[in-house]
Parts: sequence; structure tokens; C-alpha cells
Amino acid sequence: MELTVETRAAAQIEAGALVSYAFEGDKPLEGVLADLDRAVGGALTKLAESKELTGKWLETTLLHYPQGLKAERLLIIGAGKREKFSVTELRKLAAAAARYLKARSVKRLAILAREEDRTAGGAEAIAEGLLLGEYEADKYKSEKKNGGALEFAALAGWSGAAHAEAERGLRRGRIIAESQNFARDLGNEPSNYLTPRMLEHRAIQMARDIGLAIEVFDEKKLAELKMGALLSVAQGSIEPPRLLVLTYTPEKVAAGAPVLGLVGKAVTFDTGGISIKPANNMEEMKFDMCGGAAMLGAMRALAHLKPAVKVIGIVPATENMPSGTAQKPGDVQTAMSGKTIEVINTDAEGRLILSDGLHYARQLGCTHLVDAATLTGAIVVALANVNTGVFGSDSNFTEQVLAASRTAGEKMWAMPLDDEYREMIKSTIADIQNVGSGKGGGAVTAAAFLREFTGETPWVHLDIAGTAWLTEGKPWSAKGATGVAVRTCVELAMHLGT
Ligand code: BES
Ligand code: MN
Ligand code: ZN
Repeated sequence: MELTVETRAAAQIEAGALVSYAFEGDKPLEGVLADLDRAVGGALTKLAESKELTGKWLETTLLHYPQGLKAERLLIIGAGKREKFSVTELRKLAAAAARYLKARSVKRLAILAREEDRTAGGAEAIAEGLLLGEYEADKYKSEKKNGGALEFAALAGWSGAAHAEAERGLRRGRIIAESQNFARDLGNEPSNYLTPRMLEHRAIQMARDIGLAIEVFDEKKLAELKMGALLSVAQGSIEPPRLLVLTYTPEKVAAGAPVLGLVGKAVTFDTGGISIKPANNMEEMKFDMCGGAAMLGAMRALAHLKPAVKVIGIVPATENMPSGTAQKPGDVQTAMSGKTIEVINTDAEGRLILSDGLHYARQLGCTHLVDAATLTGAIVVALANVNTGVFGSDSNFTEQVLAASRTAGEKMWAMPLDDEYREMIKSTIADIQNVGSGKGGGAVTAAAFLREFTGETPWVHLDIAGTAWLTEGKPWSAKGATGVAVRTCVELAMHLGT
């Protein structure tokens, strides 16, 4: 979709649809809506009086061939309560508009920002929303969904003087949304089209396109590095594992600036291994690489946005399969760090591959670590599909990540990580075991396991098992992979670089 900033008056814009938005309880219609109302001869006032147009969150009111406008349609989206409205709502609203119009085969639209949203941040949110809303996981469909892609969208309402600011926001929005969609593409890919080696090729292609440094470790190199935890998961599959390392180095780094490590779990398919999963919904486990995809997406965005901080993306990738060569419950493995792990359950594989990824990130000199992983079903029990679970070893850094998530509009919630949970991963024969003893706290004991490999380095773990996938579409999003954590990690890196 082509995006531009439009400075002409709304009534003069030619498009399949002109879009704006109304708040709940605004009477009479204010600002741009009052202007639009006048242009269409008071039709909006009449609709408001008859309670068809109320401004309720994501309500849609569509006028065809409105007199006084050059656009063929006028779409007013409900923006909900004014006090609750922020760029997060603006992003969703733009996304919902894109999906609504796309379903009606509209190809060209203009979205008229209200006065208070005519900022760089407003333009960014609208651009992001349009591109994220437009997205469809229809690669393998012979007939594309919802009438195919939107072709063109204009961001309208900005004056000539504010044009440059809007352009700046638009550019940032495009970079971030396209990077999030890059992660979604990977997440939606079936496992026969995305083995660890295919993920390697996708990452190399992406890195080449944008000039990011990338290094790939194959199974031989992983053995040399003694990544026993990652290799233990991979040994059950005929598909060899990979470790992807992407490095963004800024032109200027301040002395003592942090080095951010972004570590993402990429199990391209999780059968559970010998501790095999039930058949029901097992197909969803192609999504078990969404943490890795999110970190690749974040690296892509950062290569464009160029924060003044070094960022290293580390993605351990493997399948988790049962076979004659697979590891068995009770096996003891030695992680790269030297810690021994009793594998009680081969389905708790994510923490195994991350343990080597996190350790390696520290060896590379990362001073701050964030990992993202579809790690536990237990986080879905705790937080449903609403919030990402956040676990951290350093309250200051954890707060920075949470602040970044709020700015990014990704819902996240801090979870506990007391020392008591550490007791629950003690093994009788090895240093630690890969599942918690006793009942409950499955997401926390998984985090406690990861913590064993992060030492003194401030570290935050994002359990995205409940937020990386939408089983039902939303007005603002297609079902499937969400690309969650891309925006938070980008926001965090930008923040650390200022
Ligand atoms: N990839 C899964 C986590 C998962 C499960 C995500 C269900 C979404 C839905 C992970 O590898 C896993 O299997 N975790 C186990 C751990 C258990 C064996 C301790 C789980 O959560 O059931
Ligand atoms: Mn598993
Ligand atoms: Zn898994």
C-alpha cells in the first residue's frame, strides 16, 4: 500500500472513501466532524440525532456518494470515550478502517486526522494501523481474502507547515508495521515451509536487504560451541538446528552505552518430542517460533531507525520431534554455560534452547537482555490471550520494558519471580530440571529456569504464548500471528539509545 501525506482540504480529496472518527458523547459534532457535517449538508447531525452515529468504539457509519465531497464514500468510525483515546486507539481505529473498506473492495482511501492527532505520533499510529489492518495471511489461498490489497492511503488533515512532521511519523510507522508484518509472515508460515534452515534463508535475505550483519551457526558449529541444550532438542529431528545472530552497530555509540540482546525462541514445530502433545490443536504449534520472528522483526526495524545503541538479535531455531534419536525424559544435558539439566519433560524445550541463546548473548557482551518466547501454556491460564507475561531480574530494567510496551500499545503485565520458585527447579541428579516440581506456577518456574542462565545481566523474559496468535480475527486484525513484541523491543532500543 502506498502511503502519502495529503494537505488538500478534505472535501477536495478524491478517493474510494474518506475516513474520520467521532467520539462518544460529542454533541454537537466537533472539529473536523463539524466541517464534514457542513460539507455533506448536515447528514452527520441527523444520523447523530437518530442515534445511528453515536461514536461508540469501532462503530461504523458509511455514507455513499456524499454530496459536497469528492470521495465516493464517507466512513465515520467510532472512537469511543475521549478520555480513553490515545495513539493506541488511533492505531486500532485506522486498522479497523482498513479492514472494513478492504472487505468492500475499496482500493484508495484517505483518513482525516482530527486536530489533536496531527502530530508525528498521530501520523505514525495511522500509518501503522493501516498497514497492520491491511495484513492478511492468505499466501496459500488461490483467491485472496477480502477483495485483495488496498492500493493507496492518504493521511489528511495536516497543513503544509506540518507536512514534514507527518512524513516523519509516516516513515517510522511504515518501518515498524512492515517489520511487525514480516514477523507475522514467519509466524503464519506452516512448518513445512519454515524449517530452521528456511528460517535461516529468510533471515539472511532480510539482513541483506537492509544491510544488517548476520552470522549463522550450523549443527557442527553449535557442537563446537557446546550448545548442548539446543542440540538436545534438535537431536530428534532430521532437520538440523541453526543459531542466527544479527548485529546492528550504530555509527556513534556513547561510552558506557548498553548493548541490548534480543533473544527469541524459534521452535519451528513443537510436537512435544517423546513427551508428545495430544493431537487436538497441535497444528497451532507451528507458531512456536514467534519469539524468534519477533526479534528478527525488531532487528529489521532497528536497522532502519538507527538508534544510538548496539543491538544483537539471537535466534536459536530447531524442531522438537519424537524419533529414535530424540532425547528421552530423564536424560541429562549439559548447557553451554556448563550447567547440567535433567530433562523431565521433552515438551519443555523452549527453555532449553533459550538457555544456550541467553548464555551466548552474554558471551557476546550484551549488557541487557530481553527474550521473547511462546514458552508456556500456563501463562495463558494466568493472563488468557490479553497480556504478555513479563518476568525480570532487575526491577529498573523491567520497568523500562513495561514503559516501552505501554508506548508501543502492546499489553504486558509484570509477573513475580521470587527466589522460592528457584527451589522448584532443583533436580535430584543434575544442577536443575526443566520443569517445576509441585503444583502450579508453570510460567514462573519456566522463567526461573531461564534466569539461571542470565547471571548478573539485567534480563526480562516475555512469555508471549497467549498473545502471539489470534484464533479469531478482530475488527483491526486478521487471525493468526500477531507479531507481538516487535513494537515493544523497538521502542525499548530507541529509548536506550537516547
Ligand atoms: N510451546 C509450548 C508452550 C505452549 C503451550 C504455547 C500451549 C501455547 C499453547 C511449550 O514448549 C510447552 O510445550 N510448554 C509446556 C511446558 C510443560 C511441559 C512444563 C506447557 O506449557 O505445557
Ligand atoms: Mn513444548
Ligand atoms: Zn514450545
